[in-house]
Parts: sequence; C-alpha cells; structure tokens
Amino acid sequence: MHLLDAMAREGFEEVIALYDRESGLRGWIVIHDTSRGPAFGGVRRFAYRSESEAVMDGLRLARAMTHKCRLAGLAAGGGKAVLLDEPDVRWDLAYRALGRAVERMNGRFYTGPDVGTSERELAPLVAETRFATDPGPDGPGELESSTAEGVFRGIEAALVHLDGQADWSNRRIVIQGLGSVGRELAQRLVAHGARVAGSDVDPDRLQEAVDELGIEGLNPTDVLGQPCDVLAPCAMGGVLHDLSLERLQARIVAGAANNVLARTLHADRLHARGVLYVPDFVLNSGALIRGTIFHLEGRREPVSAIGERVARAVTAVLEESRRSEAPPTRVARRMAAESTELSSGLPLDPA
Ligand code: NAI
Repeated sequence: MHLLDAMAREGFEEVIALYDRESGLRGWIVIHDTSRGPAFGGVRRFAYRSESEAVMDGLRLARAMTHKCRLAGLAAGGGKAVLLDEPDVRWDLAYRALGRAVERMNGRFYTGPDVGTSERELAPLVAETRFATDPGPDGPGELESSTAEGVFRGIEAALVHLDGQADWSNRRIVIQGLGSVGRELAQRLVAHGARVAGSDVDPDRLQEAVDELGIEGLNPTDVLGQPCDVLAPCAMGGVLHDLSLERLQARIVAGAANNVLARTLHADRLHARGVLYVPDFVLNSGALIRGTIFHLEGRREPVSAIGERVARAVTAVLEESRRSEAPPTRVARRMAAESTELSSGLPLDPA
C-alpha cells in the first residue's frame, strides 16, 4: 500500500493515525475533502485483516462520503474513522480517546454511528466531543426514518422514471433485511398499497414484520432471485456479485445498504441487462442530510423534505443516465466528481 500516493491521486487532505496507550485503540481518521464545509463520516469498527486493509477502507469510505454530500447538495465533505476491532482493546476507553481526537480537530470532522459503532459505543465518544451525533434527545433524531423516507422516495422516483407513474398497487417489492431501515421502508410501501415481501436472517424480526405489517415472508436464500419490480437490499453490502447477478429477476435494484455492488463492473453488467440500479450513495443519504443540517444549521430538517431532496437527486442521476446512456453509478460518480473537481475515484474501488 502506498498511502501518500493514494492520497495525492485522490486529493485526500489528511490521514491521522490513532493510537491510545491506555485503551489499546488503533485506527485512523481520514479526511477526504473540506472545501465545501466540514467532513462528515461515521466510525467503522471492523476486524480488518491488516492495517493497510483498514486504511484503504477508510480512504474509500471517506471519498464516498464526499460524493454523497455533493449529490445531496450539502455544504459538507467526506471523512471517516476506521478502528481495528482487536481482542484486547478496552472499548469504553477507546471511544473516549477517539472522542478527544475528534474534539482536537475542532469541527473539521463530525462523526457518528456506522458498522460496529452503535448508540452504546457512541455514548463515551459523545461525552468527549461536541462534534459527534448524539443518539439521545439532544441529537438530530429520526436518522433511520430519514434514510427510509429517502429510499422510499428514491424508489418512487425510479418507478416514475421507468413507467411514468409509481402505480404502487401493481408493484411487488422485495426487501432484503428488515432492520431499522428495511422495516420502515416496508411500512411505507405497505401504506401505499404495494405488495411487499421480505427476509431477514433473524427469524424473530422476520416474523414480527410478517405479523405486524402483513408482508410476505421469504427465506433469506430465495430473495435475490425473486421476480419483482424492485429489489431493495437493506442488509449488507456486496450482495450483487458474479453469481447472484445471474439469478436477478428485478427490474430495479434500489436499497439502503452501502456498496451493494461487489464491483463497479457489476453496474455495467446490470445496465447492459436493462436492470435499473439506483446508486446506493444517492439513495441512502437521508440520515446524512438530517445529521449535517442539524450540526451545521442547528435545525431538524423534516423527514418529508429529506425525501424530496433524495428523490430530486435520484431523478437527476437517472435522467443524465438516460441522456448519456451510461450506468447510473458511473453517472452519479461523475456528477459528484465534477462538482468537486476531484477524481471520480475508480482506482480505490474494491478489486
Ligand atoms: P440494521 O442492522 O438495523 O438492519 C439490518 C438487518 O439485516 C438486520 O435485521 C439483519 O438481521 C439483517 N440481515 C443481515 N444479513 C442478512 C441477509 N443476508 N439476509 C437478510 N437479512 C439480513 O441496519 P439498518 O440501520 O437498517 O441499515 C441497513 C443497511 O443500510 C446497512 O447496510 C447500513 O449500513 C445501511 N445504511 C443505514 C443507514 C441508517 O440510517 N441506518 C444510513 C445509510 C446506510
């Protein structure tokens, strides 16, 4: 790994190595771009196999945050904290140490939850810095609802783009993952009259959604090959790869999960097959919009207005994709990069 070369190639501003003697914390804070405003990005704690894997993930995620901010029209840029999830770390102290590091940046970087960092881990961090998302009543609140509303309105925009109308009562939507976002998305779709099917690897969550929302329950292994109007991956990233792509029978793929496509070339394959893939980083920016506006403007943007913003961004990307005949993922990256005069960043993609 050539960290400085990667930084120079992609215009990264700063990478801070974190080590805390007391807790054993090891990780990085990556700042991609603050030319429009402070960098925003959550804390990812993951059992990376090596330091270089962690830092490269941090670079990729921070850059994606810049793109997300640009496409959502926010006066903010991208950053990320990545922590090595190692056995002997004293995590309560480690999150405190991270909070102090964020505080020292004095508002150049705002952070919050991400994979491996939930409300519980955030509490000690928030105690040390003003620049982190407070999950309690003093924070922005309704983050998952903001994401779910954005995904819902983005799906609606994609249906209108293809067929001229949402026509919910004639749609079958399949959701992978009925967690915080997937479940709220299902609620909205059911309320609009769509036929919803879903799966979760947690059988209790699945049963709850079936009982309470009246959706059709699916076996997790059957989800990706379901014939449907929209497949909404709301569980994990990387679910569309060489093998799963072959089974796909959806017209549209649009969900909350980050990095749904294992590789960018899968965006090209979907496009060639006539499947409309709505880029996840356009669709799932609801919580980012809510958090950014809360921190920078001191107000809570209404969830419905967040949905409007996401729908507008999705429509802009899909219209440009139709005009240029290029896959929406490449179009969205280009639009974000043009607006930042930064590279569209393909070299940092997962191989
Ligand atoms: P969550 O952890 O509440 O829900 C994820 C659900 O997916 C869980 O119920 C889990 O059991 C299930 N799951 C995991 N693997 C599965 C599989 N193979 N098949 C079926 N179900 C599976 O997470 P949340 O907050 O709902 O987020 C969903 C996705 O959206 C995540 O990938 C997250 O990174 C992404 N995202 C979430 C945002 C938010 O505001 N919460 C914002 C942007 C992205």
